[in-house]
Parts: sequence; structure tokens; C-alpha cells
Amino acid sequence: MKVALGVCGGIAAYKACEVVRSLQDAGIRVQVVMTAASQEFVRPLTFAALSGEKVITGLWHSGGVQPNLDSAIEHISLAQSIDALVVAPCTADTAAKFAHGQADDFLSTLYLATSAPVIIAPTMNVEMLKHPATQENLSVLRKRGVRIVEPGSGYLACGMVGAGRLADPEEIVAAVLATLGIVRDLAAETILITAGPTREPVDPVRFLGNRSSGKMGYAIAEAALRRGGKVILVSGPVALEPPERADVVHVETAEEMLRATLSRASEANVIIAAAAVADFRMRIGSSQKIKRNGPMSLDLEPTADILAELAEHRRPDQLLIGFAAETKDAIENGRAKLRKKRLDAIVVNDVSNPEIGFDSEQNEVTILTANEETAIPRAEKSKIAHRILDAVLKLKTRSGKAVPAH
Ligand code: CTP
Repeated sequence: MKVALGVCGGIAAYKACEVVRSLQDAGIRVQVVMTAASQEFVRPLTFAALSGEKVITGLWHSGGVQPNLDSAIEHISLAQSIDALVVAPCTADTAAKFAHGQADDFLSTLYLATSAPVIIAPTMNVEMLKHPATQENLSVLRKRGVRIVEPGSGYLACGMVGAGRLADPEEIVAAVLATLGIVRDLAAETILITAGPTREPVDPVRFLGNRSSGKMGYAIAEAALRRGGKVILVSGPVALEPPERADVVHVETAEEMLRATLSRASEANVIIAAAAVADFRMRIGSSQKIKRNGPMSLDLEPTADILAELAEHRRPDQLLIGFAAETKDAIENGRAKLRKKRLDAIVVNDVSNPEIGFDSEQNEVTILTANEETAIPRAEKSKIAHRILDAVLKLKTRSGKAVPAH
């Protein structure tokens, strides 16, 4: 999803930085559009650095480049590509332009050119806000379907006290998310996710590993963050960039994953074990590279079962979700693991199909709980991740383990 964030000239322009950050945290791309006046308060570079996108600073010059056909029609292409136009802070001047259809800068032109929903957060001096002209303009916009995040009352930069203060960035972001239909239903949850494979050293150059890419666990982490959850990601060695806001603990061996997981488990009210933990490790590792001297066998011992340890130490309010990587009789084996590992749910994965499972972008799973079996048809791992989180929330509500949202 993508929104255009219009920033107008007011002392509260700096608060738009927080709006950019929070929208990005919810997985939304933000294209900042600054009016000329706003650039007197905050430099475009600040927004460019925060949003990771070129900032639009005028109708004829975009980001300092000379006018060309691209920049001249940019307001049209942007207007068509956004899911919402948000203006925060919105001055009396910009509200008036919007109300009257005046289009003399990029932002006001964008307003006329877009059919996306519009949300504005006005801020101005108390008398300017009270003025019938401003009130009429806001009323015209309201009637037209523009969502107005009402200004708050308090001390204003002009020295007066009264209505006109920009609404809190959280309130503005909540209005945007509600408009876009984005839910923050995991805002009260801390979710610990294990992901990826583990590596068990054989000698200084070799290890026992498996084909897990970590994509499923990372997709769950990303989805949980977007839905407002806090995420602790205990990750084995993978070639993926972790989501920016996840609290990541990198581990290599099953033993390290066990220790990291146990030491952080008390912080979590949901634990999702998506890692493909090695089941065996060398009984005695070799400190020297093993030479190729004919046939050989490795003397292995089982690793600790992390889920079993977690189940042993779990708090009553904690939900424990496992994965089952199976190559045959997936559902029966999954159900047996659900019981044996004393889990609230298990996500069964048939890893014998190369189009799904290990290292593929897609997956197809069945979520088993004590009394339900939900087949999730083949889809991108990001979509499967959301379905798994939906199941977690359902379990929380049913089991009464729900933590009230802040
Ligand atoms: N798991 C774990 N610790 C291990 C092995 C697995 O916590 N040492 C977890 C995995 O993260 C997964 C679940 O247990 O959530 C099931 O993993 P899976 O490999 O399917 O099952 P195993 O318990 O290893 O049993 P088997 O290999 O015999 O099927």
C-alpha cells in the first residue's frame, strides 16, 4: 500500500516525521509531498531519509531536478497510484485550496487529481480555526467525504491556548489505517518466532544443516509487526534481511537456539516455532578438519527439543504454536506432534512437494488445533503468515488468553 503525505507549513511540520515512521511500520510506502512553506520548517532531506523516497517539493521541480515531462505529469501518476492522500499538518490555506478546487501547487493539484480517500489533520491559530471562512471550508470538505482528524486543544506555538493544535501522530495514523482497512489487532501481543535452520558443526569446515530458508518464519515476523505486534525473532543462519522493527537474536546451533529462546520466552505471550531445528549433532565434534580416509560414519546424538522445553516452562497465558515438516501422512503425524509437544496449534507443512515448503515463495498448510483442522490453500508465504496469525488470535479469544489491547 502507498500513501501520499502532504506536509504544509506550520510549526507542527516536524510531527509529520513521526507519521512517516508509523505508517512505514505498518508496511505502508510513503511519498512525501512538501508545500513551499513547509520547507521553511523541515528540510526535504529529513523526509527523504525517513521515507527512503525522493520528496516532492513542487509542481515543476521534483527533488531538485529540472522540469521535464516526467515531473510535469508526476501529480497525475502519483494521484493514480496512491491508496490515500493524507495531509498532516494541514494549514488553513491548504484546506481553503482543497475546498475551492484551487490547484496552484503540487499538493492542491494532487488533491484534485486523485480519487483515493483523503484525510487531513488541520492545525492553526485558535482564531484562524474559529473563523467562519475556515469552518466553512472544513465543512465543505467534510461533506465531500474528506476525513478530518480534529485538532486538539492546548498551548499553541503562537502563545495562545485553545483549539488548533495538530492531533497526535498516533491519532492521525490510526485514522489512515482505519481508512485503508489495516488492522492492528496484535498491538497487545509480544510474539517470539524461531526461524530458519540450525547448523551443527562436524569439524571446523563442515556442518549438518537442512534446507530451511527461514522465509516462512520471517514472513510471520513481518506480518505480526504490520499488525502492531512486538516481535522477537530467534533466527538461524539465513540469507534474508530481518524486518526492521523485529528484535533479532542470531543463533547458529540448536543449543544456541534453545538458550536464546528460553531466555526470551518469558517476554512473549505467543511463541511460534517455525525453525527447522537440527535433530542431531555430533556427540564429540572434531577440532581438526576430518580427512578423507575411506568410508566413515558420524557418531550423532539428539539435540534438545526446544518446543518440549518451552512447553515445560510455559506460563498459563502463553500460546505455543509449532510447525510440522512432513513428507508423508502429514495430518496424522501433525496431530501426533500437537499432542506429544502439548501445543495449542500446529502448522502442518508437506515438504515433499518442491513447489511449496522449503525455500519456495509459496506454501500450503493445514492448521491443527485440539478440535479444528483448517486447510489453507496454496498462497504466498506472506498471506499464509496472516492466516496463521488469524488462527493465533482466534485461539487467544477462545482460550481466554487474550490480553486487552492498549
Ligand atoms: N523443534 C524443536 N526442537 C527440535 C526439533 C524441532 O523445537 N530439536 C520444533 C520445530 O521448530 C517445529 C516442531 O518442533 O515447530 C516440529 O519439528 P519437526 O522437525 O517437524 O519435528 P521433530 O520434532 O523434529 O520430529 P521428526 O523430525 O521426528 O518428525
